[in-house]
Amino acid sequence: MTSGLRKGLTSYGDAGFSLFLRKAFIKAMGYSDDALERPIIGVTDTFSDYNPCHGNVPDLIESVKRGVMLAGGLPMVFPTISIGESFAHPTSMYLRNLMAMDTEEMILAQPMDSVVIIGGCDKTLPAQIMAAASADLPAVVVPVGPMVVGHHKGEVLGACTDCRRLWAQHRAGKIDAAEIETISGRLAPSIGTCMVMGTASTMACMTEALGFSVPMSAAAPATHADRRRVAETSGRLAAQMAVSGAPRPSEIVSPASVRNAMIVLQAIGGSTNAIIHLTAMAARAGVTIDLADFDRLGREIPVLLNLKPSGRHYMEHFHHAGGLPALMRELRDVLDLETVGVTGRRLGDIIDAAEDVPDQDVIFRRARPLSKEGAMAVLHGNLAPNSAVIKQSAASARLMKHVGRAIVFNSVEDLTARIDDPDLDVTGDDVLVLRNAGPKGAPGMPEAGYLPIPQKLARQGVKDMVRISDARMSGTAFGTIVLHITPEAAIGGPLAVVRDGDRISLDVPARRLELLVDEAELARRLREWQAAPPHRAPAKRGYAKLFETAVLGADQGCDFDFLLRDPGEAK
Ligand code: FES
Repeated sequence: MTSGLRKGLTSYGDAGFSLFLRKAFIKAMGYSDDALERPIIGVTDTFSDYNPCHGNVPDLIESVKRGVMLAGGLPMVFPTISIGESFAHPTSMYLRNLMAMDTEEMILAQPMDSVVIIGGCDKTLPAQIMAAASADLPAVVVPVGPMVVGHHKGEVLGACTDCRRLWAQHRAGKIDAAEIETISGRLAPSIGTCMVMGTASTMACMTEALGFSVPMSAAAPATHADRRRVAETSGRLAAQMAVSGAPRPSEIVSPASVRNAMIVLQAIGGSTNAIIHLTAMAARAGVTIDLADFDRLGREIPVLLNLKPSGRHYMEHFHHAGGLPALMRELRDVLDLETVGVTGRRLGDIIDAAEDVPDQDVIFRRARPLSKEGAMAVLHGNLAPNSAVIKQSAASARLMKHVGRAIVFNSVEDLTARIDDPDLDVTGDDVLVLRNAGPKGAPGMPEAGYLPIPQKLARQGVKDMVRISDARMSGTAFGTIVLHITPEAAIGGPLAVVRDGDRISLDVPARRLELLVDEAELARRLREWQAAPPHRAPAKRGYAKLFETAVLGADQGCDFDFLLRDPGEAK
């Protein structure tokens, strides 16, 4: 098998000439023949001025390169798309599959024997792991790491759970315009990803739990020396994997490693987004997520991690408390300890070596968990025939069983236009419904599921209401919020026919979400909808057209249908 510079020669009909030409051009960069004979380790560069979360990528690349060269390899850095969460219109999720395609194709098109993937802001690690699984070249992932915490008036705070909490206080008139401006300079006080257990932190934990990254890589702060050591170690490992050719991503992603990741997801109070991403990542390696199993795990696995939004600490505290290996040690009896990732070590051996930090209150013991059940529950019912998800660890206990009147918003635009209307007929006991905000509906399934409390209710002190939608929600958000309803409204899911004033029942203990209209009436409304679906202007060209045509539902990971692994394809 060819390796190094000889891999994937450009096609000129003469292999010798192709290699000669490739060498002639690369020598323009000053490489020696010795360097060009080494195994090549690709390194993704996702630095962008639009992505402050990836602000340390240049430093991490330097550390990765050092590790690669210490192990005798030749590092070659190449750019891919970078997606900064708050700079992506209409939503970063819309671009995740584009980044996955870009990364996969650049891994396959350029000569490399293994690859180090550096990413972290919400959609980047999922996109990159989807790409790695499809390219199936040995890959080590280096998460960029979380920001350090901020401080305001003696309070520790951070992005972006506190962004939402403090903005809600501003909306309620408790924080004035000048103070909220000051706060905006304190919520994200360093480069790195959001330092609560939002999507970025959750995906870094999933990455480590799956075995794609080295131990302690999920939580070390972006600016900490440990983060650079993680990068150096990863470079060294990738150089070794370039020679051995193993493990390949398709060997790392297995039913056992995916189940381990689901257990961790429940125990860390992880982001709801993660179940969509995990579904997509696993599917690229031919592993199907069983949502019923995920829900069962949610009943058995308690939340152990005392991090916002479910608890009170931040990622740097998690790192100093022993990180993911220490948390996984608490779950020893339910994890598959025989899984092996990029380090080549058994998971059991990794967690046995975890640091034991005395007197910390970040990682709770199994006997005294933060909450008895896991982070998420999967709901079904006539409003969610396929599934819906709720992050129960960040919801209000009093609303876990609730019946209320539906107040329906037909789109994100409709929500924006009317939610603060003083004449909106709404009380704190109502159920706010947002539809047409799913993968096809919005498009891109924006994080609009955290519907704001109507301003007039916020001013009366209402802090939480039941909110349901086919949208997603930021992992940093909190509230009694049902998300990812499938089928989505835009393709005629029952959410499409809810009317103002209908009664909706949420029963999280029973895992039910029901529209309380009789079966015949619901069937009649659905028939009417199918006969004359509301007109939506179709996308005319480009990526928008591709997205609209090919995107799958949230229960299938929102991947493009043509990117799924061919079921007949050997692993
Ligand atoms: Fe990048 Fe939160 S905005 S991780």
